[in-house]
Amino acid sequence: MALGIGVIGVGVMGRRHADNIGGLAPRARLLAVTDSDAEAARSTADYLGADWYANADDLLARSDIQAVVIATGSDTHAELVVKAADRGKDILCEKPLALTVPDAERAAAAAEANGVRLQVGFMRRYDPAYKEAFEAIAQGEIGHPVLFAGISRDAQPPPRSYFTGAGAGGLFIDSGNHDFDLARWLMQDEVSSVSASGGIVASPELADVQPIDVGLATLTFRNGAMGTVALYRRAVYGYDIRTEVLGTEGAVMIGGHTKHAVRFLRPGRSTSEVQMHWLDRFAEAYRLEVADWVQRMATDRPPTITATDGVRAVQLSVAAEESRATGRPINLPTY
Ligand SMILES: NC(=O)c1ccc[n+]([C@@H]2O[C@H](COP(=O)([O-])OP(=O)(O)OC[C@H]3O[C@@H](n4cnc5c(N)ncnc54)[C@H](O)[C@@H]3O)[C@@H](O)[C@H]2O)c1
Repeated sequence: MALGIGVIGVGVMGRRHADNIGGLAPRARLLAVTDSDAEAARSTADYLGADWYANADDLLARSDIQAVVIATGSDTHAELVVKAADRGKDILCEKPLALTVPDAERAAAAAEANGVRLQVGFMRRYDPAYKEAFEAIAQGEIGHPVLFAGISRDAQPPPRSYFTGAGAGGLFIDSGNHDFDLARWLMQDEVSSVSASGGIVASPELADVQPIDVGLATLTFRNGAMGTVALYRRAVYGYDIRTEVLGTEGAVMIGGHTKHAVRFLRPGRSTSEVQMHWLDRFAEAYRLEVADWVQRMATDRPPTITATDGVRAVQLSVAAEESRATGRPINLPTY
């Protein structure tokens, strides 16, 4: 029988997930979508041949929906995860799991208490290049990982409304959440302390809605390895995501490959082709993410990326923001 799926929040990300689920028949069926913007819900439902609701409670009340994707604004994730878990739905929740550590823990606890499976949308783990790097590191091909470097740059900042809605929480939680997850996953270790700083360097017009448009976090891992996460909102030339892991016997670099020794990056005049949007750069990852999640939900297997992964990434994002705001390094709890 097809897995009945509902999508909560059909903005940019939710529509992409809904579309990808549409391609997974007959294993899965998109039965309904919901959005607090009723027009967004109606138009997406019409296009994909599903039912629609203006209220998430109505979608969650349907017994033929076994699993839901939550792709609403980040400030609503924890509350909706709790509601969906209480209704017995398996969940794929977009990152970040929550904006605060207590909310992330509350969401994870609700999933556990209700015996539902909660996956967090760290789709970079499904990107073929990241997956290959992970497997090479796990097989010891670069020795022991000692240094992590994550770079995430948006081409342009999102509209002002994003910072108080969908992308609430600031740069370290909105964008950095992905890099902090990659750091734990690729380095195969937990972070013991975070130091971070940041400021507004290129988007003064956004200073009243976001404290920083550039952010740098230094991570110390439990085994002594170190890492940096460098975030930037306005790269102008494109959407630029790169990661490097240096090990005792080699290094692996993901993203930014080119044959040219010198590269110039300017809007529309780059000497190598540059991705402009995350929906293009990670199109395959989003497809593979939903396909793997559906397969696992339909066959009673645990999710690939767990609620604990979601909580840990929130802990790191929040610690980075706290360090930036206070100027102090933040120690993480020992688990
Ligand atoms: N994994 C990724 O690469 C990635 C990329 C972009 C965004 N995201 C995450 O996805 C989420 C959505 O981002 P977006 O860019 O699609 O934003 P968006 O503003 O385009 O979409 C959010 C939608 O949720 C709806 N909504 C808000 N609160 C709701 C509620 N309580 N019930 C029902 N609908 C509600 C809004 O009306 C809107 O249509 C964010 O948490 C963001 O961090 C993840």
